[in-house]
Amino acid sequence: MKNKYLFAYLGGAEKAVQKTAFSPVLPEDAFSSLKNEVLRCNSCRLRAGATQVVFGEGNNRARLMFVGEAPGADEDRQGRPFVGAAGKLLDKILAAAKISREEVFITNIIKCRPPRNRMPAKEEVAACLPHLQRQIRLIAPKIIVCLGALATQTLIDDKARVSVVRGQWFERYNARIMATFHPAALLRDASKKRPVWEDIQKIRDEYRLL
Ligand code: URA
Repeated sequence: MKNKYLFAYLGGAEKAVQKTAFSPVLPEDAFSSLKNEVLRCNSCRLRAGATQVVFGEGNNRARLMFVGEAPGADEDRQGRPFVGAAGKLLDKILAAAKISREEVFITNIIKCRPPRNRMPAKEEVAACLPHLQRQIRLIAPKIIVCLGALATQTLIDDKARVSVVRGQWFERYNARIMATFHPAALLRDASKKRPVWEDIQKIRDEYRLL
């Protein structure tokens, strides 16, 4: 059958097939379909106790990505990462380094609030990690910052202690990656402010060189 007739016969379906078969998937489309998929995730028990999935936010072409632990009560309510007390401190740290929230991407290891902010269980991390791995693959950041122990142990080394590895560069996910203390830890222990500021200066200097 000649193409012209085949097209008429398919009533335009051929055009649609060609479009999906030959046009490359735009990263924008891939990113929004990942977001839709993650927002519908029900693959562990945390979703049932959470108000909503907190996907993460920021520039989806960011060269710098921050990864925390899990949403708390404020994040669960607003559907945005790092908007509570720890988030306000993170905003101040970023502002001091002259980095805007809009230019980076901020997310968590776990996308649903654990009940009473308990530490996520191993199987919850395992269920949620593919979402973060896909975010990292699509955003392709050059620098990843692990905020706190869960991100450090999940992304750098499962035995790593933040107090030992912080401030050092590692290579993971085709990116340079560094651990530092979680902003919530700074709210509890002011002596961690200085080391975090040192780490952030290293991160900023590396970021400015990109
Ligand atoms: N703590 C985190 O680890 N992530 C958030 O989004 C908020 C608080």
